[in-house]
Amino acid sequence: MKAFIFDLDGVLVFTDRFHYQAWKKMADRIGVYFDEQINNRLRGVSRAESLEIILERWEGEPLSREEKEALMEEKNNSYRELLATMTPADVADDVRRTLDVLKKRGHKLAIGSSSKNTKFILQQVALTDVFDAISDGTNISRSKPDPEVFIKAAQFLGEEPDNCIVVEDAFAGIDAAKAAGMTGVGIGDAAGYEKADVRIQNFAELLELGR
Ligand code: BG6
Ligand code: MG
Repeated sequence: MKAFIFDLDGVLVFTDRFHYQAWKKMADRIGVYFDEQINNRLRGVSRAESLEIILERWEGEPLSREEKEALMEEKNNSYRELLATMTPADVADDVRRTLDVLKKRGHKLAIGSSSKNTKFILQQVALTDVFDAISDGTNISRSKPDPEVFIKAAQFLGEEPDNCIVVEDAFAGIDAAKAAGMTGVGIGDAAGYEKADVRIQNFAELLELGR
């Protein structure tokens, strides 16, 4: 029986728009150009690395560590205000149903997300109890495409990497899954990534896998 490890943002919930709005607010305030295309590059990338990508367009004096910390905090505060508006209705029916069926069939389920807001998001959308383990931004020191977050998820589940199926929307996440020695399933953006072992359009297609 295979175990499933799910990325969170862009796979189970669509928080991308909140990340965009929060980074955009910060970028506009400090006067650095930011658009949806740059936002796409932030998929699966840690908060600190996301800031560095946004600051590629920064034309002012180099910023200190403290200034960068303050910008990340500013972004995260607006992001969490947006997350606080989320409810269980923000999880699509087919996502919730598919997770339930996989669980009933006896598959172990885990989260493998770079986000430090993972537990808050899961709580908002009432998904916490569905997962046997949570590996997130609070227990890793290297973010995707490094495999650490998925290796930890497998350890928390007590599973070998080659028995794990990772579901990801980020190219960096598929690379991380492959580096961990796991099967990488691409959905959303990553459904167009040739390195994904399996590419799916709908979440319910997962029911065909893992037997
Ligand atoms: C990932 C998102 O899940 O989490 C990234 O795809 C985000 O866009 C990263 O930067 C870190 O999120 P947070 O919530 O810790 O700022
Ligand atoms: Mg994602």
